[in-house]
Parts: sequence; C-alpha cells; structure tokens
Amino acid sequence: MSMLRVGVLGAGQLGRMLALAGYPLGVACRFLEPGPGAPVAPLAELLEGSFEDPEALDRFAAGLDVATFEFENVPAGALQALAERCPVRPGPRALEVGQDRLDEKCFFRELGIPVPSFEAVDDRAGLERAVDSVGLPAVLKTRRLGYDGKGQVVLREITDLEQAWRRLGGRGLLLEAWVPFHRELAVIAARGLRGEETFYPVVETEHSGGILRRSTAPAPDLDPDISALARDYASRILGALDYVGILALELFQSREGLLANEMAPRVHNSAHWTLEGAETSQFENHLRAICGLPLGSTSPVGCSVMLNLIGTLPDTARVLAVPGAHLHLYGKEPRPGRKLGHITVRADEASRARELAERVEALLEPPDAGIGG
Ligand SMILES: Nc1ncnc2c1ncn2[C@@H]1O[C@H](COP(=O)(O)OP(=O)(O)O)[C@@H](O)[C@H]1O
Ligand SMILES: [Mg+2]
Repeated sequence: MSMLRVGVLGAGQLGRMLALAGYPLGVACRFLEPGPGAPVAPLAELLEGSFEDPEALDRFAAGLDVATFEFENVPAGALQALAERCPVRPGPRALEVGQDRLDEKCFFRELGIPVPSFEAVDDRAGLERAVDSVGLPAVLKTRRLGYDGKGQVVLREITDLEQAWRRLGGRGLLLEAWVPFHRELAVIAARGLRGEETFYPVVETEHSGGILRRSTAPAPDLDPDISALARDYASRILGALDYVGILALELFQSREGLLANEMAPRVHNSAHWTLEGAETSQFENHLRAICGLPLGSTSPVGCSVMLNLIGTLPDTARVLAVPGAHLHLYGKEPRPGRKLGHITVRADEASRARELAERVEALLEPPDAGIGG
C-alpha cells in the first residue's frame, strides 16, 4: 500500500503527536501554520503560510488524501475553501459550532444535552440583564477565541461587573451560571467514515487557573449510568454533525446532574493518557477515522494519571526514575502558563497509579490560582 497523505491545519503539540502516530501506519502528515517555530517542525513536512491565503491552501492541499485540523481557531471560511480542494474531516460545521460558545450551547440544548443557564451579552446593559436572569456567581466568557481559561472572568458580586466589563467588554460575550460542580469529566469519542462510534472510558479532569492540570482515566468511582449518559451526549453530537474523527466533550458532574461545558472537534488534552493507557491512542484513532480505516480498540490498559507540564519543566531523569512514568516534551520554549509537555503514569491498579502520580507531582512546580485573563 502506498503512503496516505494527511494535511493538518495547525502545527502545535497535538499535530506533533498526530505526526508521530502516523509513522507506523504509513500515514505522512503535512502541516500548515502561519508562524515559525512550530513543535512539528523537526518531524514532518511543514508549510508556513496563512490559512486564508488561497495560494498557500493550494500548495498545502496538493496530493493530500484528506485534511484535518488540530487548531480550533482556523477561520471557518478557510476550512470551507480547503474543503473545495480535498476531503476535510471533521467537516467545517463541526469547527464552526465549536468556535462560538453561544452557538455551541444552543446546539447542545437543541440536542437535549443539559447546559448551565446562560445568556448572550452584547453590551453593558445586556450584562445587567444577563446577571438578573442567570444570577451570581457567574462566569463572563468571550464567545470566541478563548482557551485555557483565557477570555473568562468570574463574577461573584454585583460590584465585579464594572471591572469584568472593562476587561472583556466590546467583544461578543456570554454569561454563564457558575456551576458548583462535584467534579469535571470528559468523554472522548471516535467516529469512523461509515458512522461507527467508539468511546474511551470517561476521565476525570482537574483544572486550575482554567488550565487542565491532571486527568485520571478511567474516572474513579464513576456511576455506570453517568458514564452511559456522557457517551449518549457525545453520540448525539457525533450524529448531528455526521462527524468523522476524535471529538472531546467536557462535562460538569453536579447536583443538577451532568451538564455539558464545551466540546472540541479535535484530539484533546484530556485524552493524552491514551498514548500509553489505551489499546489505541486518540491520535492513531483520529488518523484511522479520517483515512476511512477501521477504528482501533479504545479499551484502557490499566489505570492512568496524566499530568500537564505548564510553564516550567521538571528534571527528566527524576521523572523517569518513577516507575510507570512516560514523559512527552513538545519542544516549546518555556513561558508562564504554556503547555510544554505532559507525563502519563500508568499502572495496573488505580491506587498504584495515583501513588506514583503523587511522586511525579512532587517534582513539578505548584500551579498558580484563579481563572486566567
Ligand atoms: N460555568 C462554570 N462553572 C464552573 N467552572 C467553570 C465554568 N466555566 C468554566 N469553568 C472552569 O474553567 C475551566 C475552563 O473553562 P472552559 O469553558 O472549558 O474554557 P476553555 O476553552 O478555556 O477550556 C473549566 O474547565 C472549569 O474548570
Ligand atoms: Mg475547556
């Protein structure tokens, strides 16, 4: 069989792990990225160019079997333009819905997936009205371009409005009720070209400062009904979008039940543990799906705890001295708040994985507090 050629928009760590997963399958990835210094640069073909430049899209699409994206803020128009040149999976609609927190929440609601109460906010008076309707505490979020807690402000008291408006006002916004969640969960699904679906075990995710710090797979002590519900919600989204590839759905487990937070139409940080902790990694399954190949088993191999390396890096030798620890560095320059790598600790028993993860955590710098700006 000849090589399969996959084009990827974006060239960060997600792209890098896609490229690595492609090699043993005979899948060659080509990346398009506007700026220099991308994490994929040492290991795959990388074109530098704007997503919106037709000439760059021509060069990128030449000879591709299929294209995908690892960066969520690719302009939707650029993805549509690419779709005229080669198959794009998942399709532009999935990207578009995922890019706008308001559209996303309305979409969830239409599918019968519960969400925290929310209101669109377009001006200062609209913020007052939204607070009356949603109540406090609440989170004011930009509809677009937020990630890792950026573009979010928590409102606790009515006196917080002024400063929040100064920080975020002028952009399209959304006010969302603060959810006093018991914990956060994520479900990662894969859907193949013929509509076949499979799900990784639901994971528990822990954030601080709006950034994912740790995910534990499978989520400890999870009620099978909650797990089934999470899969059902993800399945509704997959079906509605005629989705192909990996999809992540972030959830709040709360007194009000399971609420959807947001989705990501791409491979996702909360499933990095699948590299060692599942029969088939999310990266391999994304490539399998978009190439029209059979999906691989999503069964867990023991229990995993994944820890993100944010802002600074620990000593490699000390990390690797912990049994079951697997280090992944992304080749990025250290900067505060930046995801530089991750470590997955895998063990046969959950308690052992947790204990080993604590040993790794002792080697990491403690996280800063509070949702980011
Ligand atoms: N309505 C909310 N109630 C409670 N916590 C929230 C709420 N919205 C966001 N958070 C916290 O902030 C984190 C990041 O917010 P999220 O909406 O997922 O944006 P991002 O795109 O930055 O991941 C969430 O994982 C959660 O920990
Ligand atoms: Mg999130």
